[in-house]
Amino acid sequence: MKNTTATFLQMKQQGEKISMLTCYDYSTAKLEEEAGINGILVGDSLGNVMLGLPDTISVTMEDMITFGRAVARACHDTMVVIDMPFMSYQVSAEQAVQNAGRLMKEGRANAVKLEGGAAACPQIRAITNAGIPVMAHLGLTPQSVNALGGNRVQGKSEAGAKRLVEDALAIQAAGAFAVVLECIPARLAELITSKLDIPTIGIGAGAGCDGQILVYQDMLGLFSEYTPKFVRHFAELGGAMKEAFQHYDAEVKAGSFPGAEHSFKIDDDVLSRLY
Ligand code: KIV
Repeated sequence: MKNTTATFLQMKQQGEKISMLTCYDYSTAKLEEEAGINGILVGDSLGNVMLGLPDTISVTMEDMITFGRAVARACHDTMVVIDMPFMSYQVSAEQAVQNAGRLMKEGRANAVKLEGGAAACPQIRAITNAGIPVMAHLGLTPQSVNALGGNRVQGKSEAGAKRLVEDALAIQAAGAFAVVLECIPARLAELITSKLDIPTIGIGAGAGCDGQILVYQDMLGLFSEYTPKFVRHFAELGGAMKEAFQHYDAEVKAGSFPGAEHSFKIDDDVLSRLY
């Protein structure tokens, strides 16, 4: 059964946790879907983990569409949310609707995600009015890394925590169907979750959210440049992959791969006529 915005809402109402992971390619999306993950986010984190960029600022609409449509082709039951990249929605509500429309039509998303609280409400309202579900994103919002002064926990002060509660209520009123809470104190996330009717999806926001999301390279131990405090390695595939690459390298150099069983035959008489 397709996971929809209604499924997410129902899961919150029934106290069932929602599982989400990021994904950027067809083969991995198939595995995530087969594993029963409720929602896939084609995150602009692809700038870091797929393109090797230092942040998400340079990610383009074309990047999101290319990776997004590869994921969407693999997903029948899993909800596919595609991130709106930096400067694809901040300029105006009209720009936001046009670009959200492209992610739906060309990327085949089921919903889009954008970062921001009260300031992003005109965009959230306009996109939802166009019939496109919007997931909001509060707390540590990586597109604002330069304004935030780095990737740090948000909402620790009274003023910061109050602003996050107000932002959460504002994006809900503007029509968002869910909200990602990134890197905020667990008790604050729990409070916001209890105040909202829409589901909260946490990353570095404790166990009190309605669901959780992780970047899949982080949880598989594939991305070794840094490991945030909130990440658990559910497998160590990075080490396993490196070992397999070393094994292949050694066998190629020793001439033991490919073997006869990996090679194609030709009749002797065909071959003899070539000499
Ligand atoms: O881009 C992304 O992967 C995200 C998640 C970290 C929520 O926004």
